[in-house]
Amino acid sequence: MVQGKLTGLRSVELGVADLSASTRFYTEIWGLTPVVRTEKSVFLRGSAAYHHIVALHRRSKAELLSVTFNARSRGDVDALHAVVQRAEAAAIEAPGLVNEPSGGYGFAFQDPEGRILRVVAGDERYADAAPVSDRPHQLAHVVLNSEDVPKSRDFFVDVLGFRLTDQTQSMNFITCNDHHHNIALARGSGPTLNHVAFEMRDLESLMRGAGRLRDHGYAIEWGVGRHGPGDNVFAYFIAPEDYVVEYTAEVLRIDASYRTGKPEDWRWPPGRVDHWGISDPPSERMKVTQQKIRFAETLMPVGG
Ligand SMILES: [Fe+2]
Repeated sequence: MVQGKLTGLRSVELGVADLSASTRFYTEIWGLTPVVRTEKSVFLRGSAAYHHIVALHRRSKAELLSVTFNARSRGDVDALHAVVQRAEAAAIEAPGLVNEPSGGYGFAFQDPEGRILRVVAGDERYADAAPVSDRPHQLAHVVLNSEDVPKSRDFFVDVLGFRLTDQTQSMNFITCNDHHHNIALARGSGPTLNHVAFEMRDLESLMRGAGRLRDHGYAIEWGVGRHGPGDNVFAYFIAPEDYVVEYTAEVLRIDASYRTGKPEDWRWPPGRVDHWGISDPPSERMKVTQQKIRFAETLMPVGG
């Protein structure tokens, strides 16, 4: 185990067929800021210090190219590479300099269910980080569907050093820092993307952001409500090309004293789907959509 070597969830790399339509959505409507544009890719930042939190890459179809985590140091990248190599990684590249505008040192690999994950240290940071009203600050979490939740959870915990924070009937919540979760594994038909959540400054920012989405014709597919595990407020939308995205706020921060929850800790009255009891269930459209996006079949090396 390598507890403590990962410091957080940095970015998601999304393959999209229509780069300009997705760029328009994530900038003008979702609220991210483009920092680098090339013919085939757009890198988008939030108000936190990360160089980017979303990278859009032109592909023949929508597919999740990778989920990228930060490690503390180059030495920790090398240590993580060694433990991943000893585990059942389906594919893995050697650590090296990252061939992306954010720079740094890292490697990409495929976990036992075929997800493409990347670990990077020493990537660029901005000095002007400050939460902005109604704009995403940083990624909060990525929820990944899994055919075998215990097996995937064990890989994240035993190999990558995550900590299990809560379990419900269908989900396992895990973290590599003081956020209640950066990853959740949901029981599903395969290693697909359930959704990507973006942390807003506060509840008011979430509500104003959700209003902006509605102004642009995007319905709230689930919410507004408050989750049980993580205690975060949520509003879910369907972005272009069937990526399910969430604005979230007030995500619980934890320390070593947090007691891992069990499914029986999260029992609500029949029909209730959020902690407050005010939200309707997720839309049927969202339930179908959040099983659609598959990981790319081949590794996207950080070395390009
Ligand atoms: Fe979420």
